[in-house]
Amino acid sequence: MCGIVGYIGTQQAGPVLLEGLGRLEHRGYDSAGLAVLGPGANPALRTVKKAGRVRDLREGLPKRFSGKVGIGHTRWATHGPANDVNAHPHTDAKGDVAVVHNGIIDNAAALRHRLAREGVDLVSDTDTEVLAHLVALSSADTLEGRVSEALAFVEGTYGLAVMHADFPDRIVVARNGSPLIIGVGDKEMHIASDLAALVRYTTTVAHLEDGEIATVTAGGFTTYRSDLSHTDRPTTSLDLDLSAYDPVGEEGGYMQREILDQPAAAERVLRGRLDERFGTAHLGGLNMDARETRAIRRVKILGCGSAYYVGQMGASLIEELARIPADAEAASEFRYRDPVIEHDTLYVAVSQSGETIDTLLAVQEIRRKGGRVIGLVNVVGSAIARACDGGIYLHAGPEVAVASTKALTTMYLGFALLALQLGRTRDLSIADGKRLIAGLQALPGQIEEVLTLDERLATIATRLAEADSLFFIGRVRGYPVAREGAQKFKEITYRHAEAYQTSELKHGPLALISADVPTVALVPDDELTDRNVAALHEIQARGGPLVVLTHAGVDLGDVECERIDLPRSERELDPILMAIALQLLALHAATTLGLDVDKPRNLAKSVTVE
Ligand code: AGP
Repeated sequence: MCGIVGYIGTQQAGPVLLEGLGRLEHRGYDSAGLAVLGPGANPALRTVKKAGRVRDLREGLPKRFSGKVGIGHTRWATHGPANDVNAHPHTDAKGDVAVVHNGIIDNAAALRHRLAREGVDLVSDTDTEVLAHLVALSSADTLEGRVSEALAFVEGTYGLAVMHADFPDRIVVARNGSPLIIGVGDKEMHIASDLAALVRYTTTVAHLEDGEIATVTAGGFTTYRSDLSHTDRPTTSLDLDLSAYDPVGEEGGYMQREILDQPAAAERVLRGRLDERFGTAHLGGLNMDARETRAIRRVKILGCGSAYYVGQMGASLIEELARIPADAEAASEFRYRDPVIEHDTLYVAVSQSGETIDTLLAVQEIRRKGGRVIGLVNVVGSAIARACDGGIYLHAGPEVAVASTKALTTMYLGFALLALQLGRTRDLSIADGKRLIAGLQALPGQIEEVLTLDERLATIATRLAEADSLFFIGRVRGYPVAREGAQKFKEITYRHAEAYQTSELKHGPLALISADVPTVALVPDDELTDRNVAALHEIQARGGPLVVLTHAGVDLGDVECERIDLPRSERELDPILMAIALQLLALHAATTLGLDVDKPRNLAKSVTVE
């Protein structure tokens, strides 16, 4: 989604803001802009904005663009096309006010009509522009007062930053549904919608809460409720591996780096959480005792996109190991069907960023109706983590690439830990608990083994990249893996990749199989191997090229295919090794096509608008 940066301090704001925008660049956007308050007693506000990349903005900056207070933005278009005019910052008619905004103003159309009736000339198609005019029309004494008055008219979501030529010593920021972080430096302050933009300068941060406004000056910040009564917003020190944000030179980009980090990420999420003696997991963050855990009759998992597919994998794990009915649902649909919230259901929200608005709103819906919800979240202190009753932090480390990889692996392992703990308070035997623990301990090594298949997968990917359309198929545990494989492939290669249950092929999609439509089939060594192999024959009989991910020793008969034998793990853990192989296929197909894997078109890292 859109990215916000801001700076006030002793340095020139322009370069700091450009650096921050550059750090947000790979997260998906279509235009960028800056506004800086010039030096001197009566500083003028100068705004430059451009469709395209940060490099276009940098090249378009005037020679003299000095000033020590500024805001910047990367836009992901929601209202109106990606062009220079619609890019942020937006200003009022006199050019005294500049606003950058992430989110959606739901009543923008009504506000535009009202402003037009009052003689305001709106120049862009955006919802954001109304904010600049509303701030300019306010006659409150202070900038925070003007922002507060403007926001009183607004319905919708926002993370925003506002500058005003009449108040050159401050930037006012506000949050409602879209992340806004203040970074505390030495005689300088930073503002960002995403940690990636400010960790180079500071790791002392404050996350604004929904409904808060803050005044940020070079010396500090003050937070308020919407009525400008004071709030207490503490800062936290981030404990992050900052090298994850370092620029990558290789063509595989951040995505490849993050795929390769998966053995270490798997170790991090498991560390200190396995109890070998009792064959169970320690998950103190759940904030539930054994009696409460035993009272759970159902588990409902909510997430979006890949997090939803991992949620489906997690539901299988919970049903298998804990024998509790479990399912996953797209969080984006959940609250619109007025869900019945059951008090003996454990709701689980799963999210890398912890800021995905659809998942956050699902959590709020559950809590509003009195349900208990825990989070499987990567980003510490994020909105979803804070909104839940408890949870499991994933410790994947910063995930920068739009295509999620290592976070998904840690989500899967988070579900394995949860299933283990739920299972061991029920009928899962200590022997099975210990078997699974041994399997989890072996997993980082097995992930390493999958990564050694890189070259072979790259060769196959080169051929897959030639197809316009592909199928990914799997059964039971394998089906969500196929969905995730197809998702990864389509989001970075722009090829049509569709997942199907292998068993459903002959009920329709077999009609599409031809020599031009390859199928990537998941055929683990399990109770369904024979049925899966029968489906491979049906595809082969229709001339469909096959790539088969399987295990050594599985007899594929006379099926002609590109065969990949994956390392064997405990059968419950097979899905994640298959998912990692599919990440490599997608990565190499995209680089073969010459695509920038870290900047997939139309996509953003965290989706903070509905
Ligand atoms: C993953 O590759 C996708 N880019 C996307 O589906 C993502 O998983 C989804 O938007 C959820 O994000 P979250 O985990 O940050 O909530």
